[in-house]
Amino acid sequence: MKNIVVVGAQWGDEGKGKVVDILAPFFDIVARYQGGHNAGHTVKIGDRKFVLHLIPSGILHGECDCVIGNGVVVDPAAFNSEVEELRLLGVECEGRLFVSTRAHMILPYHTALDRAREKQLGANSVGTTMRGIGPAYEDKAARTGVRAGDLLYPDLLREKARACIERANRELVAAGAETLDEERTLDEYMNEADRLTPYLRDTASMINRAVRDGKSVLLEGAQGTMLDVDHGTYPFVTSSNATAGGAATGSGLAPKSITGALGIAKAYTTRVGGGPFPTELLDDTGAYLQKRGNEVGASTGRPRRTGWFDAVVVRYSVMLSGLDALALTKLDVLDEFDEIKVCTSYKTRDGLIEDMPYGANALAECEPVYETVPGWKTITSGITSFDELPEAAKSYVRMVEQLCNAPVALISTGPERTETIIREESLVSEWMK
Ligand code: GDP
Ligand code: IMO
Ligand code: MG
Repeated sequence: MKNIVVVGAQWGDEGKGKVVDILAPFFDIVARYQGGHNAGHTVKIGDRKFVLHLIPSGILHGECDCVIGNGVVVDPAAFNSEVEELRLLGVECEGRLFVSTRAHMILPYHTALDRAREKQLGANSVGTTMRGIGPAYEDKAARTGVRAGDLLYPDLLREKARACIERANRELVAAGAETLDEERTLDEYMNEADRLTPYLRDTASMINRAVRDGKSVLLEGAQGTMLDVDHGTYPFVTSSNATAGGAATGSGLAPKSITGALGIAKAYTTRVGGGPFPTELLDDTGAYLQKRGNEVGASTGRPRRTGWFDAVVVRYSVMLSGLDALALTKLDVLDEFDEIKVCTSYKTRDGLIEDMPYGANALAECEPVYETVPGWKTITSGITSFDELPEAAKSYVRMVEQLCNAPVALISTGPERTETIIREESLVSEWMK
């Protein structure tokens, strides 16, 4: 049995798309289990760049079936445009992409509420992607949401949605935002949503049946540990469980069937949106990382905040998701530094801590304690074997392993599929059989 979950070990954008694209050919099904089109997973193949938001990155491999699991929130307009974009690139989705009937739907009022609430929060805003993600998960938890399977009962769906829009309009009026015209919104929405119907399945049964028949599943996480609604820097988080536990609830695959977990971490750290970020660099070094790493949001085009590698964060991630191994990406971005810093612990009012403190306020007060190591000042871009890395880069990788309590099984040295080191006799090399 081989069913592996891939999770972001920092604040998202670690390179999950690239890694999933590398692993996908060795799996029968690739499934998303949480989040929605707030994600932006980039896959670069030759001159072509694909950015997947809602559809699993495995779709680019013709042999895989792809699943949008029950834990995902689906905006039909975003779904349709992604399917269309893929078709123009020669990738057909119908017949190999399946959407859970139990997945909750994002309606236009969710997006309107997301915007209105962010505006009201002003300087304290979360910096969401404005895709309606939070409000859609709210409706799910409040038991007032519309699910993809409701499309099979359009009259009931309209009735439910009408009540939700009425309620949302009251909040929008109070917030001084524009309200939605119920019937027009519903008509337009149903036009888009109807196109989802052929993709609907009981995906939990489908996945568990496939596993029983000896097939393998790759679970593609979106966002990252520090954006997890339970374990992240709450309230500066997304509204779903990005950690490995979410893979079971969000796909319906029984937890005992998940056989491994791979965490993706950048060789430094980035974050988009608000919230604490202890190793953030607001100086020239931060600007350099932003430029050299091309750190611009794949979904929203916002510049990403940048900083040194934070081992407290990744260690926390290894613990929470039981990560068997790490993939360390964007090592090449560090190629030119004389010296590189790694945060090993935090200084607080009460002394040094090595574990994640409770709460965003406490984290904001933490001062990173750095260990400084020599840079390698050699181009590593495109290197495909560990032996070929300069000694200082090898030491850096070993330091990450030691500080984070997990082996680094894959090292990424560029955005292309081929610019990758798979460590010999590592778990990743096992999974690629
Ligand atoms: P994801 O959300 O975790 O899938 O990551 P994103 O796609 O949002 O961001 C990662 C960015 O880094 C993308 O533009 C990738 O093409 C790029 N990338 C991935 N791995 C590497 C690498 O090893 N080196 C460099 N230079 N770029 C990389
Ligand atoms: P991938 O899968 C990085 C961030 C937003 C904001 C917070 C809440 O590409 O790694 P939301 O719209 O989810 O309510 O926003 O989460 N965020 C991400 N940051 N990568 C992502 O996805 C993200 N998805 C959401 O910037 O701070
Ligand atoms: Mg991304």
